[in-house]
Amino acid sequence: MKKLTSKEINKIPRSFDVIGDILIFSNIPDELIKKKKEVGNYMISKLKNIKVVAKKIGIHKGKFRTRKIKIIAGEKRKETIYKENNARLKLDVEKCYFSPRLSNERLRIARSIKKNETVLVMFSGISVYPLVISKNSKAKLIYGIEINKIAHKYGEENLILNKAKNVKLILGDVKKIVPKLKIKFDRILMPLPKEAYKYLDLVDLKLKKGGILHYYDFLKEEEIPQKGLERLKNGLVSFKLLKYIKCGHLGPGKFRVCFDVKIM
Ligand SMILES: C[S@@+](CC[C@H](N)C(=O)[O-])C[C@H]1O[C@@H](n2cnc3c(N)ncnc32)[C@H](O)[C@@H]1O
Repeated sequence: MKKLTSKEINKIPRSFDVIGDILIFSNIPDELIKKKKEVGNYMISKLKNIKVVAKKIGIHKGKFRTRKIKIIAGEKRKETIYKENNARLKLDVEKCYFSPRLSNERLRIARSIKKNETVLVMFSGISVYPLVISKNSKAKLIYGIEINKIAHKYGEENLILNKAKNVKLILGDVKKIVPKLKIKFDRILMPLPKEAYKYLDLVDLKLKKGGILHYYDFLKEEEIPQKGLERLKNGLVSFKLLKYIKCGHLGPGKFRVCFDVKIM
């Protein structure tokens, strides 16, 4: 078993994601690649809650927005339970999209919800937004729609895990499901920044007049807010911008931006 020198320990990246008991590095420097297992074991020895250490391979891609990971040390599993904002979420970190970095944003949305609102979360994944809303607001009813069967399955399991009574999840394509829904909503969330703008016509169909839309987009610094506003103008009949915030950083000069708008 190779040992890490103190110089090598200093080269271990300080930034990584922790989802439940799984630690995920974005990158391991070339000089440590041959000792990646030792790096993983070192992290497990230092961080008591970590049981699996993995490395990202590539970026989030495809319709399901998933990304491959490779386990480099610890137990051989990709399933874990993650806790956030009073909710517990079971997931497979490779087969479902999930980012722990959005927990503040999710709480921001949940706290803005008023008593008895009906909320639609398009692209609901493992049901993290619906559950954070259920646990931290007095919403009456929250719908979630997700196309990835595995993420939807975890979503259903997470409703039971959290004893959530006011969340209803539907498996399927937002484009096909939303027009068939019998109710209109007080609030709609669109957490699919890569292409939420393609689904904006559904908002006019199902958001009540005066209702709130949280629209996410990926924008370069110089495109904020104009490009997002243009997309909103192209997709919605009439709206008023309440505010926009940067709620994630995607590498040099690129951001996840949330536009909070009121439908007029
Ligand atoms: C960026 S992820 C966000 C997931 C979740 N809301 C979260 O914050 O963790 C987008 C999700 O939308 C789902 N998705 C993509 N296109 C869809 C569609 N047309 N209908 C329903 N879900 C879709 C993907 O499978 C993925 O789980």
